[in-house]
Amino acid sequence: MKIQSHLFGPLLLALLFGAGLLGCTGNIHMRIAKQSFGDFDGKTVDLFTLTNSKGATVKITNYGSIVTELHVADREGDLADVVLGFDNIEGYLGKHPYFGAIVGRVANRIAKGRFSLDDKNYTLAVNNGPNHLHGGLRGFDKVLWDAEAHCTADGPALTLTYLSADGEEGYPGNLTATVVYTLTHANELKIEITAVTDAPTPVNLANHSYWNLAGHGSGDILGHELCLNADSYTPTDEWLIPTGAFAPVEGTPFDFRTPKTIGADMGDVPGNPEMNNPGGFDTNFVLNGKTGALKLAARVVEPRSGRVMEVFTTEPGVQFYSGNFLDGSTVGKGGAVYERRNGFCLETQHFPDSINKPGWPSVVLRPGKTYRHVVVYAFSTE
Ligand code: GLA
Repeated sequence: MKIQSHLFGPLLLALLFGAGLLGCTGNIHMRIAKQSFGDFDGKTVDLFTLTNSKGATVKITNYGSIVTELHVADREGDLADVVLGFDNIEGYLGKHPYFGAIVGRVANRIAKGRFSLDDKNYTLAVNNGPNHLHGGLRGFDKVLWDAEAHCTADGPALTLTYLSADGEEGYPGNLTATVVYTLTHANELKIEITAVTDAPTPVNLANHSYWNLAGHGSGDILGHELCLNADSYTPTDEWLIPTGAFAPVEGTPFDFRTPKTIGADMGDVPGNPEMNNPGGFDTNFVLNGKTGALKLAARVVEPRSGRVMEVFTTEPGVQFYSGNFLDGSTVGKGGAVYERRNGFCLETQHFPDSINKPGWPSVVLRPGKTYRHVVVYAFSTE
């Protein structure tokens, strides 16, 4: 009975707004709906709604492979939307800080937008001070992906595919990237990212969701308690380019080995006025455990709602970003004004500027090999 009442909402919405229900016909344990999210480049952009057997819902658009909404329960069973974003495509077509998107071809920064690979030099757009950020001017967050929804034993899923042509944003090789989002019946948002290429290229794809476990638009995230499975981090210069060293977190504001609030030591992390950086966390952590094996990266608790988010990944690093550049100029879903530190990101990935750091885990993908990155955001309450 409970299951069916949860699914009544999506059904009713579909009837009211003409959204098509697809896949999963006759399956009362999950639901997938598709509706128009607007137009981009003369093409219709789709918005998919995936509902699992617990009544959790995720909305994903094929523009930028963006997670636009994620509704999960608090300790009373009340749902809230825990990601920052916009109600319509117009918001995402305007200037915004990568809300919910898949960023790439190389997430995070490449120093001076330059690298060499197999003795050839490459120059990329410089779009973050003197450096390259999140794939350039038109990264994977700003393109239309092909999308196909399907039901799986684990829960409703959406597969998105994008062919990034040789030379796009200065990167070599035709790269086909595939992202599979699954909203599992265990209340996990599982993201599996793979890619293949026809020429050697750097690849580092990441999901850039902004979280607020009290619900987006509910204020700052400084009271969230964070624990990171990292004994060290990669110190940077003032433009957030790693120096190449690993530094122990011990005795620094970056020590999250036991839970503490995001706000506790945040004031001790300096910014850089030249890049409008007011300070706060924007740091890559070196995760304990094996690259390629799924391991716990982070655990976050929002004490008022009781919502808990655990992050598991196969990647070697996680960029923990405390929403320092949010400044109230972005108006999101339902008119919510996103002020400084109203959301945080835990972007699992290879370390920033790895392509220029020969001793670090490699981001080079070669023909015949498959890039693979899994990240699981698991929700529960306490
Ligand atoms: C990443 C970067 C930040 C910032 C955000 C987007 O998290 O590390 O410095 O650029 O993306 O605003």
